[in-house]
Amino acid sequence: MNDLTVVILAAGLGTRMKSRKAKVLHEAGGLTLIEHVVASALQLARPDGVIVVVGHQAEQVRARVAGRGVRFVEQTEQLGTGHALIACREAAGSARGDLVLLYGDGPLLSANTVRRLIEQRRASGAAAALITTKLEDPAGYGRAITGGKGRVLAIVEDKVATPEQRDICEINSGIYCFDAALLWKHISEIQPNPVSKEYYLTDIVEILNRAGHEVRAMLHPDATELLGINTRVELAEVDRIFRERRCRELMLAGVTIERPETVTIDTAVEVGMDSVIEPFARILGTTHIGENCRVGAGSVLRNVRVASRVAIAPYTVIEESVIEADVTIGPFARLRPGSHVHAAAHIGNFVELKNTRMGAGARAGHLAYLGDSEIGSDVNVGAGTITCNFDGAVKHRTSIGEGAFVGSNSTLVAPLEIGPGSYVAAGSVVTQAVPADALAIGRSRQTNKDGWAKQRRERQQRSS
Ligand code: UD1
Ligand code: CA
Repeated sequence: MNDLTVVILAAGLGTRMKSRKAKVLHEAGGLTLIEHVVASALQLARPDGVIVVVGHQAEQVRARVAGRGVRFVEQTEQLGTGHALIACREAAGSARGDLVLLYGDGPLLSANTVRRLIEQRRASGAAAALITTKLEDPAGYGRAITGGKGRVLAIVEDKVATPEQRDICEINSGIYCFDAALLWKHISEIQPNPVSKEYYLTDIVEILNRAGHEVRAMLHPDATELLGINTRVELAEVDRIFRERRCRELMLAGVTIERPETVTIDTAVEVGMDSVIEPFARILGTTHIGENCRVGAGSVLRNVRVASRVAIAPYTVIEESVIEADVTIGPFARLRPGSHVHAAAHIGNFVELKNTRMGAGARAGHLAYLGDSEIGSDVNVGAGTITCNFDGAVKHRTSIGEGAFVGSNSTLVAPLEIGPGSYVAAGSVVTQAVPADALAIGRSRQTNKDGWAKQRRERQQRSS
C-alpha cells in the first residue's frame, strides 16, 4: 500500500514471561515472535516503511530480522507504548498517509485483517481505527468505551479501570491505523499516567475525540488472531495454533499426518504430496520433503532437504543434511550436519553419519560410525564399522572407492583410502591405503588348540 508506515513495538522485556530473554525473541511455530510480526508487516508495506522499535536486547532483536530491509528505532527507556511511538517520530518522516501500529508480541495477526482496518479508516475518514474484540475474560486488556455507530471514545487500561469499566468485554487489541498527520499533531499531548508514570498510547483515543475527531472500532470476531503473548502459557497456546495451522495447510495440500496433534512442524517446512508423517515427528527449520516420503514416529529433522520416495523409519534424527530420492534410513539412525546421502542408499539402525557423503546405492545397515568420509556408490559397509576420524587433535578423512566391501567390525584409521572394488576382511584394523581390487586383512591369524576346553573342565573338576 502507498503512503503506509508500519511501526512494530518490540522494546519491552516482557516481565510476565519471567525470562532473561526479551519477549519477542521467544519462539512460536518455529520462528521468533518478532520474525512473525515483521513478515506480516512486509506483506503490507515496503521494507523501508517498516519501523521496529527495539530496546531490551536490541542487538539480538535486530539480528533476528536483519537483511529484510526494515528500519530500527531505539527506545532506551521503556516508558510505555505512547513513549515508544513518539520515539519513531523522526524516522517516520513525512506526516502523510496511514500509520499502522502492531505489537511485537501479537504474532498471529494476519495481514488481511490489517488491510481491512486500513480500508475502514480510509473509507470512514476517521482519525484512527482500532481493532477490538469481545472476550469472555477481558482481564488485563484495555477496555473500549464505545459511543455507538462504531465510535470509540476512550480506552481504559485494566489497571486504572473502575469496577463498571472492568465489566466491559470489548477490548483493545492494540492494533491501530492512524491518519499519520493527526497522530503526529496530537501525540505530544499524551501525559504520563499519574499512577504508573507510563505514557499510554491508548490515551490518544480520548485526545483525538476531544479535538473533534472520530476514532472507530473494527470489531473482529476471531479473538485468537489477536492473542497477545504476555506469559509462557499464552506462548504455548500461540505455538499450538501455529502448529495446527501448518498441519492443516499441509493436509489440505495432500500430506497425510497421523495424529496431527502430536507432531511439530515449523512454519517454513514444506512437504510434498502423498507423503506420510507419523505421530510425534518433529520437522523443523527450513526442512523440505518431497513427494511419497514417510517420516517415522518420533523422528526429528532440522534443516534437511529430502527428495521423493524416501523412507525414514522411526526415531531417526537428521540435521543440516541432504537426502536424495529412494533412500531408506533408520530406525534409530543419526545423520549429523554436512551429510549427503545419494539416491537409493540405505542407512540402517544405529548408524551415525557426520559430514559424510554416502554414494548412490551404498549401504550401511547396522551399528556404524562414518565421519568425515567419502563413500563411493554401491559400497557395502559392514555392521560395527568405525571410522577413526579424530587423532585427538585433528580430524582426518576416509575415502572408500566405488563398489568396495568393508567387512563387519572394521576399524578404519584415518586418513585412509580404500580403493574401488577392494575387500576389507571382517574385524580388520586398517591403517594403510588399500589398493583397488585388493583384499586387506588387518588382524592376527586365528590359532585353534585342540582339546583345550575339555582339559580345562577336567582340571576344574579334579580340584573341587
Ligand atoms: C497493551 C494496551 C492495551 C491492550 C493490550 C493488547 C497500552 C497502554 N495498553 O497493553 O490497551 O489491550 O496491549 O495486547 O498500550 N512496548 C514497547 N515500549 C514500551 C512499552 C511497551 O516497545 O515502553 C511494547 C512491548 O514490547 C510489547 C507491546 O509494546 O510488544 C505491548 O506492551 P505491553 O506492555 O505488553 O502492553 P499491555 O499491557 O499488554
Ligand atoms: Ca501485551
